[in-house]
Amino acid sequence: MENTKNNSHKNILGIESSCDDTSAAILSNGKIYSNVVASQKVHEEFGGVVPEWASRKHQQNIIPTVKYALNKANLKLNEIDAIACTQGPGLMGSLLVGHTFVKGLSMSLGVPFVNVNHLDAHVLAHFIDGEIPTLPFLCLLVSGGHTQIVLVKENYQMEILGKTIDDAAGEAFDKAGKMLGLSYPSGPVIDKLAQKGNLNAFEFNTPNVDKLDYSFSGLKTSILYFLQKEMKQNPNFINQHLNDLCASIQHTIVSYLLLKLKKAIIETGVKSIGIAGGVAANSSLRDSLLKLAEDTGAEAYIPKFEYCTDNAAMIAFAGKIKLEQKQFGTLTDVCYTRK
Ligand code: KG4
Ligand code: ZN
Repeated sequence: MENTKNNSHKNILGIESSCDDTSAAILSNGKIYSNVVASQKVHEEFGGVVPEWASRKHQQNIIPTVKYALNKANLKLNEIDAIACTQGPGLMGSLLVGHTFVKGLSMSLGVPFVNVNHLDAHVLAHFIDGEIPTLPFLCLLVSGGHTQIVLVKENYQMEILGKTIDDAAGEAFDKAGKMLGLSYPSGPVIDKLAQKGNLNAFEFNTPNVDKLDYSFSGLKTSILYFLQKEMKQNPNFINQHLNDLCASIQHTIVSYLLLKLKKAIIETGVKSIGIAGGVAANSSLRDSLLKLAEDTGAEAYIPKFEYCTDNAAMIAFAGKIKLEQKQFGTLTDVCYTRK
């Protein structure tokens, strides 16, 4: 790749470290050349992300991850023209590792950096490459920390139409998995086990929440009480019905997610729909989105798998938009844990 240092911001380094994945990506002339993710296995045995461990691992991983991303893109550090970094929301210790690293790198290389909102980046993952949604676009953003229905308008202006009032959809998968004795993160495990289960075997309640908002904490309680009751009569209940339990829980979460998305399609009249965030990797959610699109005459968009879970390609892409708008970061900018 040629050295483009003096020609606008052609080579952008993206950095993501909001939770438990350290990621670096290179976006060059609008194209992703590398998107490297270092995941942290250390959290598995704790059944959830341990913030202190996450920060320590980011510290160990960030330099090798950036070096690997540069190597894969065949680029040297001094060929970077700008840096994009997640500013929030996320875990403060995790964010600080990436953000402070980026501020230092920006100073030493003499190139600008931009702050990126992690949630905006998940939605913008749709526009990186492949089939790009037409605007306006309705995006169901479902991750471990967030569940939102976002309306993307012209110039990528975003409006949140609905959101969870308590737990996120990914959290519902992870907490249900924990009750079933599955490893963390449980979303992908439930997805796999559900494939051999009956989705109508058991029924769980999802609460009626106003407008386009969601609530997942009631579902967690409903699963807990159900399992406690069944296990009292049969201590082997979970083992004997694991596939059916996974299929029924997954079906409940996915149907609830799409019920509100359908409501949003009807209310806004927008016929371009999609999913983003880690839970967008769920096979049932993907299939059900296509079915919903067919039923409502909408066009469905799903980003590449590697752009669904936490990654720096989406940060570099969202950063490119901010660079074009000249929204540069400054050394006094601070990270935030909530939007
Ligand atoms: O977006 P993400 O990688 O990180 C956050 O920003 O939170 O999302 C992680 C979440 C976890 O809760 C994980 O269980 C869930 O995404 N997840 C899935 C699947 N793959 C990841 N949930 C259901 N089915 C999957 N296949
Ligand atoms: Zn995320």
